[in-house]
Amino acid sequence: MTQTAYRAQLLTFRDDPAFSDDNAVHETDGLLLVEDGRVVAAGAYAALRDQIAPDAEIKDLRNKLIVPGFIDSHIHYPQTDMIASPAPGLLPWLNTYTFPTERKFEDPAYARETAGFFIDELLACGTTTALVYCTVHKQSADAFFSESESRNLRMIAGKVLMDRNCPEYLRDTAQSGYDDSAELIARWHGRGRQEYALTPRFAPTSTEAQLEACAVLARKHQDVYIQSHVAENTDEIKWVESLFPGHRSYLDIYDHYDLLRQRAVYGHCIYLDDTDRQRMAETGAVASHCPTSNLFLGSGLFDIEKAGAAKMPVALATDVGGGTTFSMLQTMGEAHKIARLTGHHLSAARMFWLATTGAAQVLDMSDRVGTLKPGSEADFVVLDPAGTPLLARRTARAESLEELLFAFAMLGDDRAVFETYAAGKCVHRREARRAAVPELAAA
Ligand code: GUN
Ligand code: ZN
Repeated sequence: MTQTAYRAQLLTFRDDPAFSDDNAVHETDGLLLVEDGRVVAAGAYAALRDQIAPDAEIKDLRNKLIVPGFIDSHIHYPQTDMIASPAPGLLPWLNTYTFPTERKFEDPAYARETAGFFIDELLACGTTTALVYCTVHKQSADAFFSESESRNLRMIAGKVLMDRNCPEYLRDTAQSGYDDSAELIARWHGRGRQEYALTPRFAPTSTEAQLEACAVLARKHQDVYIQSHVAENTDEIKWVESLFPGHRSYLDIYDHYDLLRQRAVYGHCIYLDDTDRQRMAETGAVASHCPTSNLFLGSGLFDIEKAGAAKMPVALATDVGGGTTFSMLQTMGEAHKIARLTGHHLSAARMFWLATTGAAQVLDMSDRVGTLKPGSEADFVVLDPAGTPLLARRTARAESLEELLFAFAMLGDDRAVFETYAAGKCVHRREARRAAVPELAAA
């Protein structure tokens, strides 16, 4: 297969910029060489130009910035059509909008069409990997994986487990949830770039029997992911206390069922105490910080410094449709504002780390995605510093990498994403998508 050579600015990381500013590496004249869907080399153009194959296709993107593909660590594809639904907080929002919407995913054709749109939207925002909640219906997971596989994306998803405290039409049972999850693992986990996540929605909608059954599957499949929600909202926490008396904390319920481990990802984690944070750090379970959702639903403010001090693994997420955007750039911007409201400063380099290499590291996939390391899968985003007139004006005046990245995080969205690549193939081109929408093309 022929090589493709991308000449552009490059952003990579040596390690977490929390430890040192030097951990963010900016090649102002960089070269990325891709062959057979994998990165062959990435670095300074001057150092690598001799490695360009004679028959390579050369792409001159010198006014653009290539970064590893964004990773969204928590998102619900069935909630695409109900994003921006008004409700006074999490529980009314779930009952009024979420559950009735999720009912429609019983229909495989509806599920497939929505999954296709959802994935196009992710790619338009530069997100190449996501941890995705489907609905309780196993066909909703089949639909999602089929759409992801057809684009050769590295995605993690799972059928929701939910056997109580929700409408009858959305319930499985401990046994059927076990059987369906086992069947989906056998069908999809490790097939091409697809990976499975056991998905108990959150403790209140699972019986003890269901959490126990989930733990059995988790033990049987150590490399399968686990995803759920924890400590998002004060009303939710009171409810959980009444349903699971005798536990030290909300997180302790998952701990009790052996669901804290590497590759276990918990959305929100706002109201954790020091012991909870320590348990997350000890077990390797990941906190998924969902800033736009937490602001939209008024859930609360995640304290990123306390998480860091406890060495608790953290990644960023949109949590669509509780979240209000598919864009990880906008998500970074809101994470920064939440950090300010909790008395901290979150640098732009760190925000990009949390959405790329850092996320891949805590999700145990940094050998495959999240970096531009030789041998890794060529999932990357071409960002356009002139994506909007305002972004162009601000980035032209950026005097450091931090200022450049900060402008992307504060002012950027899908308009700043020029192209998105997955396994070396272009899977989104901004101008092509604009052309497909007559109103945008005419503008
Ligand atoms: N807790 C349980 N289910 C959900 C959901 O769909 N979204 C959010 N934000 N929180 C939840
Ligand atoms: Zn969620």
